[in-house]
Amino acid sequence: CGITGYIGFRDAYPIVVNGLKRLEYRGYDSSGIMMYDGKEIHLSKTKGKVSDLEAITDNDEKRKKGNIGIGHTRWATHGVPNDVNSHPHVSQSGELVIVHNGIIENYDTLKKELISRGYVFKSDTDTEVLVNLIEEVKKNEGCKLGQAVQLALTSVVGAYAIAVFDKTKPNELVIARLGSPIAIGVGKDNSEFFVASDASPFIEYTKNAIYLEDEELAVVKIGKDIKVRKIKDDSMVDTNIQKLKLSLDQIEKGGYDHFMLKEIHEQPKAIIDTYRGRMLPNEGLIKMSGIDDNLNKFLNADRIIIIACGTSWHAGLVGEYLIEDMARIPVEVEYASEFRYRNPIITPNDVVIAISQSGETADTLAAIKLAKSKGAFVFGICNVVGSSIARETHAGAYTHAGPEIGVASTKAFTTQITVLTLISLKLAKAKGTMSDSAFRMYLQKMELIPAKIEALLKIDEKVKEIAAVYKDAKNCLYLGRGFNFPVALEGALKLKEISYIHAEGYPAAEMKHGPIALIDENMPIFVIATNKGHYEKVVSNIQEIKSRSGKIIAIVTEGDTQVRDIADHVIEIPETEEALTPLLTTIPFQLLSYHVAVMLGKNVDQPRNLAKSVTVE
Ligand code: G6P
Repeated sequence: CGITGYIGFRDAYPIVVNGLKRLEYRGYDSSGIMMYDGKEIHLSKTKGKVSDLEAITDNDEKRKKGNIGIGHTRWATHGVPNDVNSHPHVSQSGELVIVHNGIIENYDTLKKELISRGYVFKSDTDTEVLVNLIEEVKKNEGCKLGQAVQLALTSVVGAYAIAVFDKTKPNELVIARLGSPIAIGVGKDNSEFFVASDASPFIEYTKNAIYLEDEELAVVKIGKDIKVRKIKDDSMVDTNIQKLKLSLDQIEKGGYDHFMLKEIHEQPKAIIDTYRGRMLPNEGLIKMSGIDDNLNKFLNADRIIIIACGTSWHAGLVGEYLIEDMARIPVEVEYASEFRYRNPIITPNDVVIAISQSGETADTLAAIKLAKSKGAFVFGICNVVGSSIARETHAGAYTHAGPEIGVASTKAFTTQITVLTLISLKLAKAKGTMSDSAFRMYLQKMELIPAKIEALLKIDEKVKEIAAVYKDAKNCLYLGRGFNFPVALEGALKLKEISYIHAEGYPAAEMKHGPIALIDENMPIFVIATNKGHYEKVVSNIQEIKSRSGKIIAIVTEGDTQVRDIADHVIEIPETEEALTPLLTTIPFQLLSYHVAVMLGKNVDQPRNLAKSVTVE
């Protein structure tokens, strides 16, 4: 879901609509815009993509007229995706218009109250409740829009990023945030303002931006300095205008058909960017200030708890195997959504590592706050610089993967694993659980990984052939052991996410406790069988599949002959240390899901029902 908005001297329509397109990567199921032409409000909303919205506005100039507009892409939480539930929502009087990301949890109570005061609702959304609540406050208190929004928000429980327009004061917008990100672009001499969920929609117009913090509200008025205040205590906040570094070509496809493919191919560079300046093989050193400054906390920790969601959780699982194996510190990996609600035992002797590409995932953020409240030290691994999680954690390391636009995470995953590998090695060296020579050997092998991925990406044609054979499968199984068990989970997730084929990842040896019952000649099974990772055991697992007529696609180490004789297809990865293989074995799975999805005609970059940044719980 995403918000865009413009108020100033330019035509607002192209800014708002192109901005929505740039936010498409966040995932959504409906979209809408409001344009104000100086007299009238024009609303256009529809289920479906921004292109569907454009089809409505295309031949209707009045829907596009004006220098003020707000837009929204919606990912349904309350109420099905349809035209009526799409944003913007208008208040009963027709004067106030809102776009909103997030969830108002107490909307039902508020709605009943408003109904008793004569409000009639057109949609099933919590957002329409909020805009009418603001209207009711404004009417009762006789106050300005900014104050009305502020007062209304004090009775709201939930999460939001909102932009509100008032037809009776058309030269201003009110913007507020709690839990969902929002950025404000500031034009020259305050002649124009932009609003968006991230800076990408307005990057070509201004490099000056303000990111609102939680519980902050901003009033933007043409020709005036922005005023930001705290919603709860009404105190003024110093406006911190930042210079954006993001460039437009960084967020465009760079010649690839899809962002996902571009991002898969960016991995060698992204991994180099991750370890650049940190990993110094010649000096036999890893420098990471977030760890160096807090080394004793890690070394004296009773345990490390890794919290994350989705793909980041899979990276966390690789982290568990790495840290326990190398540094001998106990590690637990938890889904943030489970952790935060299950009354976990956390003490000041625990170190928590929170992993998140976007740095905005609501469950991860809440889990961090919980861990902090129990006195734990929290370290963040994020990709998006300045994101909420990056700010909320005590220390951290950015992955430096660059913007990841495809909803299915690829380079974020491998760069998260890179950071976790560096951390594990660093802790192992500091603790003395790894010899200096082994440490140096790992650094040298790490340095070779980007070139090995580069070589591996050349197998694309072969993976495409395999994709063509299995694209119509209804179910797939992914198996791996040890460091590559999480890669099996991630491989299955990638396929599910973008091709909508049901897939399960399993530890290879667990197959005989259930999934084996599913195996017949129609079942493709992807097995990671690299030469050092319990190789003989995995070969036995492959034999078990073979004797039940399953189709085997094996990922093996270069030069392997044993598995080649049994498997239906093999994909070779270059030789490396077993602990580093996840960085390689994951690549063919990414390419495979990509090709299957393309062949099936699916929307690779914006799969149905998924969001890039899940700011709802
Ligand atoms: C969503 C995305 C996934 C991602 C997960 C966690 O579900 O679609 O790709 O892995 O959120 O996101 P985070 O930004 O916290 O890594």
